[in-house]
Parts: sequence; structure tokens; C-alpha cells
Amino acid sequence: MFSKEVYSRRRSELRGRMEGGIGLFPGNTEAPMNYPANPYRFRQDSDFLYFFGLDLPGFAGLIDFDSGKEILFGNDFDMDDIVWMGPQPTVRELALRSGITETAPLAELETFIAGALSKNRKIHFLPPYRGDTKIMLASLLKENPCSMKTAPSADLVKAVVSLRSLKGEAEISEIEKAVDIAREMHVTAMKMCRPGVKEQEIAGAIEGIALSMGAGVSFPVILSMDGQTLHNHSHDNILEKGRMMVTDAGAETNLHYASDITRTTPVGGKFSTLQKEIYETVLKANIEAINATRPGVSNRDVHLLACRVLAGGLKDLGLMKGDVDEAVALGAHALFMPHGIGHMLGLDVHDMEALGENFVGYSDDLRRSEQFGLAFLRFALPYVPGHVFTIEPGCYFIPELIESWKAEGKFTDFISYGQLEKYMSIGGIRIEDNILITAGGHKVLGRPIPKTVREIEELCSRD
Ligand code: GLY
Ligand code: MN
Ligand code: MN
Repeated sequence: MFSKEVYSRRRSELRGRMEGGIGLFPGNTEAPMNYPANPYRFRQDSDFLYFFGLDLPGFAGLIDFDSGKEILFGNDFDMDDIVWMGPQPTVRELALRSGITETAPLAELETFIAGALSKNRKIHFLPPYRGDTKIMLASLLKENPCSMKTAPSADLVKAVVSLRSLKGEAEISEIEKAVDIAREMHVTAMKMCRPGVKEQEIAGAIEGIALSMGAGVSFPVILSMDGQTLHNHSHDNILEKGRMMVTDAGAETNLHYASDITRTTPVGGKFSTLQKEIYETVLKANIEAINATRPGVSNRDVHLLACRVLAGGLKDLGLMKGDVDEAVALGAHALFMPHGIGHMLGLDVHDMEALGENFVGYSDDLRRSEQFGLAFLRFALPYVPGHVFTIEPGCYFIPELIESWKAEGKFTDFISYGQLEKYMSIGGIRIEDNILITAGGHKVLGRPIPKTVREIEELCSRD
């Protein structure tokens, strides 16, 4: 974890943003895989990690926003635990690592919350996303876990988002480490992308790299020749010449900061003319979008810029027609790019998504569009220094979507449906990088990962 001063400062800044009441932060518990003693790899709750830093199951942190009191609730390990798990720190030792001097057994949390409720004090909590946490909160608040009447605290969500949205130097350095792990994963995937190789072999090899260099993957590896399915977690195909492989994969560092990188490689390592045409168009959208990122510009504007670059390139290739600006304003390009240009990145790969996408990526002045495509943009706000996010344009040939739009006669002024057939074998192409906004512009995080046609062909041609 970082030094205790980091966590004390974060909690103090949070107190400064809250009017009063009590902030309750349940850490995660073990999640059983097939029986209780055989759990999934433990993943701490990101907000608990951010404010308390302790990467162990079974704790809850409490901050009294009126008095400034901070308590870590948790149970000391007993001799049975030590026999099976080895020597363990005490709760008090752990609390001190986080800059907290007051501790109590977990059972006392119930008494503490009951006492606070009896004095009509407000208990602020963040939206729970695991069943165990929902049950614990409901039990503390004397509610039915299936129909809680007490809502998560919008004030706490807003205060947490305002802090976590701006990454400090140590966090940026962690994210860069995560990108450098992703670099190893992607270079390995590119080199293995040959006809006859099963996708599963590559997915397994790169997940192993994430585990050997950090805490593992930041989300389940997306790796497929069927890249037209945006989040394809199946790895059953045997790679075939003439197809392309989308690899969307990132790592978590040991402190759980994430990267999220996508590269698309032609099977066999050499682009066909057709593949190159679409790839270069997506690459142009990626580069022009990145170059446009600087303080004050909004991610919504950059999304629309990337869509215009994509639509312009597709028009040059004869797949789209008509006025590019009009096509993008009406959403015709979303046939080819139905998702947003990117999302914030940090302790979560879609950073803070559990707190509510609209709290993270939108504001009272900037509301989410309902238009197909633009509606999926997770982060639309103007950039400020310290924002870290992805830029990930793509171009997809989704048979079901194309058939449906064609049958409806949708956007026939902008889409040349008759020209699409010969591109269907491309499936999908996405190119994703991780960006930091700096005072003077932006920085692409991590060591460069091959992404031009020349760089990818050169890497794939090496033994
Ligand atoms: N890795 C999922 C995404 O790019 O958002
Ligand atoms: Mn991704
Ligand atoms: Mn992403």
C-alpha cells in the first residue's frame, strides 16, 4: 500500500467535502467459488482500497464526518487462522498502516450503527454491488436486503467521485506500470497470432503474464477473431488466415491500478489491402482523438471527432456516403462504431462505474444522449489535469445489426449497404490507449505498444 499519510489525507479531503453524518465503507469479503473455503482470488473494494489501503477481506472503515473520528472494524486472526495462513498482523497494526488509531471487532459495528441511528444520524454508504455487502448493510440499517428503502448517499458518491477522478503522481505511476504489463501481454499476443493457434492458448498465456507481473487481469481477457462482438469472452476459435484478432486486455498492478489496452492483429502478422484500409481508418481516429485531448476539451467532443474521422475514412472507401458531419450528428456511423470513445481508468478498469456512470462521466450541465451509439459514451465531461481515461475507437461489421438496419432502410442516405459484404470477414478492429491529461496537454501512458501497420508487421515477422 501507499504510505499512511496518503490514506489520512484522502479521508481528510473527503471529510472536507461532506456536510456531516457517518461514512461507512464495507470492505469486500471472500467470494466462494464452489464452497466457502475455496474462494475466487480476493479483490478488495476499490473505495475501501482508496481510503484505507488494506488489501484483506473482512474489514469495514468508518469516518465520522462531524467529529473526525475514524475507526477500523475487523477481527484479529486466531490460532487456527495462523496455523493455516501463517503469522498475521493484528487489526491494530493494520489500522496504523492506514493512519488509523481506533479499532474494534466487527461485531461492534452493529452496536455503533444502532447507536448512531438512535440519535437520528445519517449513515452515508456507497452503492453496494455484491450480495454479501447488501446483506450486511441491510442488517446494520434494520432493512430488508431485497427492498432497501435507505438509498446510497448521493452526497458521498459525488464527494468520492470528485476525489478519485483526479489521479495523483503515485497513482499515475501505478497506472503506467499496469500499461507496461499490458504491453508484455499484447506483444506476446501479437507474436502468437498465427493460423492454427487456438485463441485459448493466447488468452491463457497473456493472463499468466498479468499474474506473474502484477495482481492479474483488470477484467476478463477479450480475445477473438470474432471482434465484431464488442466484449467477446469466448476463446474457442482456431485462428484462420485472412481473419483479424482483437485483443482487449489489461492488467492490475499489485496495488490494483488498472490498464486497458486493445490491439488488433491480422492472423499471420501481415495485413491484406482490405484489412489495412479499415485498420488505417481506425488508427487515424485513435491518433486524431488522442492529439485533441487537452484541458478544457470534452471527451464528448473527442468522441464526436473520432466518429467523424471514422465516417470520413469509410466514405473514402465507399462504405458511407453523404455529408460526414450530418451522418455523425444523426448517428449513422454508429452502425460501425456503436460504443463510446472511452471511459475513466484507475482502481477500476471502468473507473468508479459501481458509483453510477452518470455521476462519473456526466454533470448537471451535461446530460447523457439517448441516441444509439452516443448513449454508450461513459465519460463525456471536459478534461482537467489528472484525468486518466481510455481512447478506443473501433470499426465493426456486426451481421445482425447490419441486417436489421438494412431491413429497416435506416440511414440509406449515409450507408452504402451494398459495399459492406466484402469487409465482413474483418469482424472488428479496435485500438485502445490510456491517456493522462496534463497541464499542457496529454500523455499517452506507458511504453509505446506497436500499433502502426509497419510496427505490427515488423513485430510479427520476428521469430
Ligand atoms: N476492456 C473493456 C473496455 O475497453 O471498455
Ligand atoms: Mn478495453
Ligand atoms: Mn476500455
